Amino acid sequence: MRSARNALEVDQLSRVFDVSAPWLNRMIDRKPKRYLRAVQDVTFVVERGKCLALVGESGCGKSTVARLVTGLYRPSEGAIVFGPSSDGRPMEAQMIFQDPHASLNPRWRVGDIIAEPIREFGLREGSDAIDGRVAELLHTVGLSPDDAKRFPHEFSGGQRQRISIARALASEPEFLVCDEPTSALDVSVQAQILNLMRKLQDELGLTYLFISHNLAVVRHMADRIAVMYLGRIVEAADTEALFANPQHPYTQLLLQTIPDVVSPNRNRQMMGGEPPSPLEPPTGCAFHPRCPIATEICQSIAPDVRPRQGGGTIACHLASRD
Ligand SMILES: Nc1ncnc2c1ncn2[C@@H]1O[C@H](COP(=O)(O)OP(=O)(O)O)[C@@H](O)[C@H]1O
Ligand SMILES: [Mg+2]
Repeated sequence: MRSARNALEVDQLSRVFDVSAPWLNRMIDRKPKRYLRAVQDVTFVVERGKCLALVGESGCGKSTVARLVTGLYRPSEGAIVFGPSSDGRPMEAQMIFQDPHASLNPRWRVGDIIAEPIREFGLREGSDAIDGRVAELLHTVGLSPDDAKRFPHEFSGGQRQRISIARALASEPEFLVCDEPTSALDVSVQAQILNLMRKLQDELGLTYLFISHNLAVVRHMADRIAVMYLGRIVEAADTEALFANPQHPYTQLLLQTIPDVVSPNRNRQMMGGEPPSPLEPPTGCAFHPRCPIATEICQSIAPDVRPRQGGGTIACHLASRD
């Protein structure tokens, strides 16, 4: 740990997937093994009680980072270090997924879904105490204690996400990894769930790693934002600073795609082209084929991550230096 203020430190994290065809097919076709770099040299810290957002288009490696941090994948390289929790043991992260339909067992009653981690970690003794804790958790996420008797399919998408949050809270985590927790929901419901997550963060002192493809969603959640492109963090800064003065051309384009409430008819520039495949990454800076200001150096040399003017980090040859 570099600092006791940090809940999580991630250092030079990389993850490579072997996506080769089966051995026999490779022999017949005389094809080599193929590797996909989903995450490369990703470094960030999450301060205690704060929210760091990872933002970027689909396929840029956000969920892979989430799975690495929660231990579902092993890193190919790099380090993931959690700080001590308030009781001195290493902090453990709980994950909230995008699709609450897929992550809740349809054959279990909601009460049993939420009670499982309480039983597993032995957090309450006896069924009265466990039932009481389940009722308390349902209340915390804005549901009724009676909902414990019902099944997941009896609830709307937003309510199901509330159930997922209650289950994640059941093991009394201090760190939550939220992978697109509102992306499957209607816009009005999204706002309710985001408000709930903010409220829980304040009341329970939680630390969040919050993942979204949508900069508008993270604006009101995140203290700090890291923008990812093809497996790497290209710009990271405090939320205010990033919105006020985006310096990477990719961040600038992402910001321009956000609908503008003040002048909705403004001529919004759309992001050109598809993100490239991590199986065949472009040479040099991976963003150069879509970058409106790329020059020769961008085509040949990958930019280093360096300090960003006004705080944070940036990886771009053309961003001005301090
Ligand atoms: N288990 C896996 N095996 C092979 N490739 C994977 C695996 N998981 C993710 N990928 C690939 O890694 C890249 C990043 O995926 P992912 O982390 O899911 O991105 P995001 O969450 O930002 O959409 C994608 O190209 C994806 O196809
Ligand atoms: Mg994802």
